Amino acid sequence: MLSICVFASGRGSNLQALLDAIAAGRVAARVLLVISNKSAAGALEIARARGIPALHTSDTHFRGEADYCHHLLDLLRAHRCDFIVLAGYLKKVPAEVVQKYKDRIINIHPALLPSFGGKGLYGHHVHEAVLAYGCKVSGATVHLVDLEYDSGAPILQKCVPVYETDDAETLAARVLEAEHEILPQAVQLFAENRVTIRGHRACIAPSPR
Ligand code: GAR
Repeated sequence: MLSICVFASGRGSNLQALLDAIAAGRVAARVLLVISNKSAAGALEIARARGIPALHTSDTHFRGEADYCHHLLDLLRAHRCDFIVLAGYLKKVPAEVVQKYKDRIINIHPALLPSFGGKGLYGHHVHEAVLAYGCKVSGATVHLVDLEYDSGAPILQKCVPVYETDDAETLAARVLEAEHEILPQAVQLFAENRVTIRGHRACIAPSPR
């Protein structure tokens, strides 16, 4: 059973999808802590409504990156979290946390990486870029987190069509459905210990069932 800390900056629909999948018995994990860099994040409300500790913490509250990093690591240790899910988290995770939780941090991104990822490409910016390029497909990627934005090995990806009538909002809604499907699935792959990292590739062992 994975013991998860979710980092989120926004409304929290991916957190909700994960909690729903856990409650439905589709994911063998528990969310023990939710952390947000935004005090008004919907994700914090969703967590509190379920009795999950939900904390607002930001690097701006600390004297420097090292202090902030130690605070995060203390929280993760105190809540006994062994896995981190970035669910709409729009900040970089400090390098020391990434190193301590190597291959134990995943992120959901609203495009088919490695296209339309990297610094500045988040949320609606991604969908606007996809539409401006004239792509015929987009989608969602769950990937491992390393020291750069959106550059770790993909775990799961799901395509959706892009229609000529789309705007960023309609495309975002279609991609979000894909996100809600693959994020819990990816967590379950880790819960079943089916992910092996070889170089930049995440290899998924077949289901034992
Ligand atoms: C999601 O679309 C997620 O993919 C995106 O933020 C949204 C958060 O929605 N994340 C990024 O763009 C990160 N690069 P949510 O708060 O409803 O889960």
